[in-house]
Formats: sequence, C-alpha cells, structure tokens
Amino acid sequence: MKVADVRADIPFLDEVIYIDAASTTPTPQPVVDAMCEYYYHFNSNTGRGAYRTAIKATAEVRNTREKLAKFINSDPMEIIFTKNTTEAINLVGHGFKFEKGDSIIVPNIEHHSNLLPWLNLQKKGINVNIIKSDEYGRVNPADIEDTIDETTKLVTVTHVSNSIGSLLPVEEIGKIVKENNSYYMVDAAQSIGHMSLDVKKIKADFVASPGHKGLLGPVGTGFLYCNQEIIEDLEPINLGGGTVLDVTEDDFKLSKVPGRFEGGTQNISGIIGLGGAVDYLNRIGMEKIEEHGKKLTKFMYNEIKEIENSIVYGHPEAIYDMVGFNISGVNCHDVAKILDEQKNICVRSGMHCAIPAIRQIGAYDLGGTVRASIHYYNTKEEIQTLIDTLEEISRYLGN
Ligand SMILES: Cc1ncc(COP(=O)(O)O)c(C=O)c1O
Repeated sequence: MKVADVRADIPFLDEVIYIDAASTTPTPQPVVDAMCEYYYHFNSNTGRGAYRTAIKATAEVRNTREKLAKFINSDPMEIIFTKNTTEAINLVGHGFKFEKGDSIIVPNIEHHSNLLPWLNLQKKGINVNIIKSDEYGRVNPADIEDTIDETTKLVTVTHVSNSIGSLLPVEEIGKIVKENNSYYMVDAAQSIGHMSLDVKKIKADFVASPGHKGLLGPVGTGFLYCNQEIIEDLEPINLGGGTVLDVTEDDFKLSKVPGRFEGGTQNISGIIGLGGAVDYLNRIGMEKIEEHGKKLTKFMYNEIKEIENSIVYGHPEAIYDMVGFNISGVNCHDVAKILDEQKNICVRSGMHCAIPAIRQIGAYDLGGTVRASIHYYNTKEEIQTLIDTLEEISRYLGN
C-alpha cells in the first residue's frame, strides 16, 4: 500500500496535519470497520457463552493474539492484553517477584510509565540504579554493563525515547543482560509498528506495547509480551471473572496463562480492531514503513536545524520517527498553539511525560520542547508546511 492509499483510509488527515504519532495515531477505516462489525453483528462477551456469537467473539480475540504473536516472533500464549503500555509495565512492577535487596537498572530518558513503577518499588527496599544518557539522549550499553551485578533483577529500557527520539541499542543491551543472568524488559511504545520487532532477537523477557500508537490500532489497547519461560512466575494483579479454573469458599485455582492476567470483560472491540491493525500494517509492509520514516525524519531534522533560532535535540544518527526542538524566545506551548491555529498542525509540546529526560537535554527551564512525530501516513509536503510555519514563527517571535 502506498502512502496515498493509507491516507485515503484516514479521513481525519484531510482535516489536519497530524504530526503527533508518538501520542496516538489516527485509526484507519478497515480497523474501525473491524470494530463496527463486532458491534453490529456479534456484540457478545468472550470466554463465557456457548452460543455462536459469543464463540465468534472469543475466536476473533484469539485471532488477534495470534497475529500479534507472529508480528513480534513470539507465541500467542505469551501475549497478555492490557489497556495500554502503562498497564503492561505496571503488571511487571506489581506482578513480578521483587525482593528487598534486588535492584533494577533503568535509563534516565524513560517515559514516566517506565520509571514511576520502579521508583515506587524503592519503598519496598528495591534499589533503582539510574543510567544517565549523553546530552543527545543516547544510552551507552557499557554504562549498563558497568552497573549490572548479582543484585540486578531487571534491566528495563525504552526502545525509542518518546521525548528525544533516541533509538537504543536494545539487542546489544539484551546480550549484556542475559550474560549477567538478569531479566530484561523493553518498552516498545515508540518502536512497535514503526520498525520490525523480534522479541527473541533482542532477548527480551518482557515487552510492553501500546496498540494505539505505531500499530495504528484503537485507543484503549495494548499488551505485554512475557517470555513463556517466566510467565508462570508473574502473578496476576487483577483477579476475578475469567482468571480461575476452580474456586471453593476459601481458595481458588488460577486458569492457564495468559487468561489469568486478563480479569473481567476485556476491550473486545478494541482487541478485534487491533487484529485488523496488524493485518493493515502487514499489507503496507514494515520495510516500507521504516524506509519512509527514516527519509522523512532526516528531512525534518535537517530542515528544522536550519531555521534561525531553532534548538534541535537528539543526535541525527540516533533519532527515530520524531524530532524534538524549540524556537528560542518562544514558549513551546505557544509554538504548538500557533502551528495549530495557523495551519491545523497537531504536534505535542511540554515535558512529554518524561521530565528527567527533558532535564537531561537541558530543556526543563524552557518548559520542555515541541515534538513532531511521524508515521507512514505523513508526507514531505506536510513536513514542509511545518517547516515554513516554524520559519515564520521564528522570524516574528524568535530571538
Ligand atoms: C516510551 C513510552 N512508554 C510508555 C508510554 C505510555 O503509553 P500508554 O499511553 O500506551 O500507556 C508512552 C506514551 O507515550 C511512551 O512513549
């Protein structure tokens, strides 16, 4: 599928210039259609009914699990549905057995969702070792190697930083973690659907993922990949309907994985839509998506850097599908507001739920940055409009 074909499936893109894929992505029509099909024709709960529409809904949810598993080179029984990336990370934070004296290694450029669950564990006597990135937001695997020791229970890193765009060498880090017999989690919120992801290649035990960002799935969807060798060690944190095989008045027997983690009625239409989204991405082709993203990011980075008064963050060789910047003399929220009001351009501004990362790149006192983040549906013309408008903002307001 070409860019124009995808744009034709997303009417929203005729109304605005949407350069905020890192927040969430617009949903293509076939994905919405898959959800509507459920609502119109088999709107039943899953795993509960013996009637045909309930069986169909259950089968469709199973299909999504299988599609996601294939997409990341895993097994369907290793996919746990969640409502977003944050919930997936917190399932590990609360459900994995951390003991007093254990330590966790995490870089300082993480989204708060991959930082707060670990800082919270400090209250239980777990040590959190923070790895500082360089001024471009790049994390050096050697720093992880120097810090990891026999107390390290988990190393958890983002694949791509959501505020700077820096791409981490997750395969290299995975090798170090495994050589040191620790567990490894990757936050794939900004990489999945933007690039191929093979959980075995990167040696991850856990991968936290949204459905609503790069995968082009519906909001309210996400999942945790958990390696089947340790999934039995993970405790469910949302017990109730659908999580047990048998119950007496004083005990219960958990159901098999991954059902035991998915308590209560799930976001059935969303999960079905997510399956449609994986089909959709496969129809475009991940290679094409990667190639398009790399070209457009390079163009965007180089052009924004040329604008008078611009400050561009991140290293040109290490950013992926986004550019963080400021126009000196203009508050980042004002830049975003002007872009919207003048040209219907949607970009995010501020701290990006990653305050330590923003501090690290020296943008805290500026109130954060402006972030332009792309996906396959974005065009060079759209980026040119962004650049032309930024030039005007700089000319009239920058200093
Ligand atoms: C790197 C990263 N991790 C976690 C999250 C949280 O994602 P979600 O909103 O799906 O919980 C985000 C959201 O932007 C992110 O970019």
